[in-house]
Amino acid sequence: MTKHLDFRIVPTDDGSKSIFHPLYKTLYHSHWGALQESRHIFLQAGLNYFIENSPTLPSSEIRIFEMGFGTGLNALLSLHWAIQNNNVLRYHTIEKYPVPLHVVNDLEYFKLLQDASNSLSQDDLLRYFIQMHQAMIQSLPTVMLHPNFQFFPIHGDILSSTLPSNIDLVFYDAFAPDCQQDLWTEALLLKVYQRMNPNAILVTFCAQGAFKRRLKKVGFHVTSPSGPIGKREITRAIKPPNGF
Ligand SMILES: C[S@@+](CC[C@H](N)C(=O)[O-])C[C@H]1O[C@@H](n2cnc3c(N)ncnc32)[C@H](O)[C@@H]1O
Repeated sequence: MTKHLDFRIVPTDDGSKSIFHPLYKTLYHSHWGALQESRHIFLQAGLNYFIENSPTLPSSEIRIFEMGFGTGLNALLSLHWAIQNNNVLRYHTIEKYPVPLHVVNDLEYFKLLQDASNSLSQDDLLRYFIQMHQAMIQSLPTVMLHPNFQFFPIHGDILSSTLPSNIDLVFYDAFAPDCQQDLWTEALLLKVYQRMNPNAILVTFCAQGAFKRRLKKVGFHVTSPSGPIGKREITRAIKPPNGF
């Protein structure tokens, strides 16, 4: 239970909010802007790159695994993307410390997302966002939020949980290695790699040299795209077509 923990909301420079983790004493996002960071790394360098470059598409759906559901911002952006682009996402995400609903209610991410097609109102976005968090808190196995977006919450610890398989895209969004070293080990990266499809992609904000060497040792092809505001580089790791 995380109800008793003090999850404090903090504004970031692009006007979007983030949370300060009461146990790890760190921010969930870059202070330069939570929304710009998530969009740049996970939507542009992740989802859009995958769609534009995957040799196996078009397939009927894209299976995502997110390490660290946190505020749910990446999940909400992905839902919004799926509906706007008319793609089907199966979104698996793991969280050890779900954020209580009274904090989630104050994040107000739904106000930041414009919908060019007018197919999604802010009320719809808020409802989907709350449903995701409720499903995570209650450890529901799956929720069909929208025909384009199925949500699979895992309320647990990545180190001891069984991870979903046949993953096309990994959003690796753990706290940084200096904060949570045990979430960046070769053994854990191998566990994730083994659940990924050939040609699947892992994206993360972390660009540390030692981390990239571990990814290569596990079998990934590693690249360093440019980062969002405040960060020179990020990491995109691709599982080879013949990866086991
Ligand atoms: C950088 S934050 C994730 C930010 C999130 N993706 C978002 O959009 O808000 C890292 C998350 O990992 C969670 N976490 C920490 N240790 C974990 C573990 N061992 N297993 C699963 N989740 C963990 C934290 O509680 C936190 O929510």
